[in-house]
Parts: sequence; C-alpha cells; structure tokens
Amino acid sequence: MSHPEHAQAAGAADAHAQAHIRCSGLWKHYGRGPSRMTALQAVDLAIAPNEFVTLVGASGCGKSTLLRTIGGLESHDAGELVVDGRAVDGPGPDRAMVFQHYSLYPWLTVIDNIKFSRRLAVHTQDRSSADVEAASGRADALLRLMGLGHVAHAYPGQLSGGMQQRVAIARALMSRPPVLLMDEPFGALDAQTREVMHDLILHVHRLERTTIVFVTHDVEEALYLGQRVVLMAPRPGRIDSIHAVPLGPRRSQDMKLAPEFVALKREVLARIRATSGLQTDHELLEQLSQAATLDQTR
Ligand SMILES: Nc1ncnc2c1ncn2[C@@H]1O[C@H](COP(=O)(O)OP(=O)(O)OP(=O)(O)O)[C@@H](O)[C@H]1O
Ligand SMILES: [Mg+2]
Repeated sequence: MSHPEHAQAAGAADAHAQAHIRCSGLWKHYGRGPSRMTALQAVDLAIAPNEFVTLVGASGCGKSTLLRTIGGLESHDAGELVVDGRAVDGPGPDRAMVFQHYSLYPWLTVIDNIKFSRRLAVHTQDRSSADVEAASGRADALLRLMGLGHVAHAYPGQLSGGMQQRVAIARALMSRPPVLLMDEPFGALDAQTREVMHDLILHVHRLERTTIVFVTHDVEEALYLGQRVVLMAPRPGRIDSIHAVPLGPRRSQDMKLAPEFVALKREVLARIRATSGLQTDHELLEQLSQAATLDQTR
C-alpha cells in the first residue's frame, strides 16, 4: 500500500512527465563578468495541456524572461525546456505570443492583419487555395468572436487600444497555436475594457483548448484568469511559490468578491511585497514634504 505522501509525489512526477510545457532546473543569465546577473535560477515548472497559468511578481523578477524563453525568443544556459515533448530551440508556430504593445501592420486592414501570418505560410509553404479559403473562414470567425466584425476593413490607426489588442489576439490565434504566451497583454487598457478582455480570453481558452501562460502585474487579473498563479521573486529571478486558485473553470466578475478570492489576493500581494525588497520610505517622504514646505515659505 502506498503512503499518501508517496502517492502525492508520484502524482506530481506524473504531472511533470505529461506536462505540455516543462521547465526543469532552468537557468538564464544576462551580462558578463561583474555585471552578470541571474534572471532565472533553477526554475522548475510543469504546465498541463489546456491549463491557464499566470505569472506574477515584483518588477525584474524574470517573468518576461521566462515567457520569452518558453517562446524560444531567449536561450537558456542550463536545464531543460520541453514543449509538447520536444526540446525548445527557438520560436515555433506551436507557440504564439502577444505583447503589451500590439504590433499590427498599420498599412493592412484589420482582416488582412489577422490573415497575414497565414498568407505568409501559404506563400512560403506552397499551400493550396483551399487552405487559403479555410484560413479566410477562420479569420472571419475570430473577428466575430472578438466583436470586431464591423471594423474588418478599417485600419489599425482608426481603432481604440482595446480593439487593436483584440486584433492582435485574433492574429495570434489564427494558426490555432496549442500554446499562447501573453506578456501583460492588457496592461495598457482601461479597467472596463480589461474586464471585457478577461472574459473574452477565458472564452477563447475554453473554446480553443489552448494552454495559456499569462504574465501580469495585476494580482486580481492573475487570480481571475489563472487556474494556478506562479509567484516569482527577484535577485535572482526564481519561483517563490505556486498558488492554486480556488475557483472553478467558469469565472464571473462577482467571484472577485468571494472571501476565498480576497484571501488569496491578500496572501499573494503580501508575498510580492515581501519579496520585492521595495517599500514606501516614510522617512524620505517626510523629508521631501519638509523641503517642499521650506521652499514655499521662502
Ligand atoms: N536583454 C537583457 N539584457 C540584460 N539584462 C536583462 C535583459 N532582459 C532582462 N534583463 C534583466 O533580467 C531581469 C529580469 O527581467 P524581466 O524583464 O524578465 O523581468 P520582469 O519580471 O518581466 O519585469 P517587469 O515586471 O518589470 O516587466 C531584470 O533584472 C532585467 O534587468
Ligand atoms: Mg516583463
């Protein structure tokens, strides 16, 4: 008979082996000599197929580095990084990325921006015209899903920030990537547009069964979207703790007021504060206000 702890350990090992994305003892450094710094220290993380994982942590803790490494845009110095059973050695069509600043082609219409990567693939891989037609159908469907059907022929410059980001997400989804890597994709949006985008991305996650890794500064956003929240700490960049979100897969905005949501938010915020090494310097603020008062009386 197996001991419960052993069973748990075996379960964890199993999850590690069956992971869609698996980082084992991943190290990454930047710079040389005295300016060499450790951006990722022995990162171990297994992400299951169709899981939605969010990465949070103080500025500079390595969230973007980890995401870009999984995306194949950065190399790692040691350890193992495997996506879908294959070692990552560069970017690939199986991993789409969305960044905070949507990089749409300003000279192409919305629909052509969405179809662009597919067109390129058709062009370079000599696909049949049936492929092009199927791609057109998907582009239209994605456009409608994003609520952008009415602006298909507009240019990016004619759209609001939220609309442009929806175009960027539709473009990323165009090739049905099994993995979607998002780096603060809603960071520049207003609060209301963000809420709409949250429900949209959760819908896409359910519908397309994508595995999503999502970086954010916003703990509430991380808890609302993620099934697990990975908290990273800086200097050296590392995983501090991993928190399972105690909410089912169907989320609604009022869940943000649930006691277990608020309790986890408080715990994660406190941990980020503790690991950031930053705190409000009340003494310095006091000095500044005294200096300002002196200036005014002069
Ligand atoms: N190309 C680079 N060259 C040198 N150092 C880098 C480079 N990219 C990142 N770093 C350093 O690596 C560390 C981690 O950076 P990273 O951008 O991954 O942090 P982050 O958690 O995404 O921060 P933020 O929340 O501010 O976006 C930081 O100290 C940063 O200065
Ligand atoms: Mg970053």
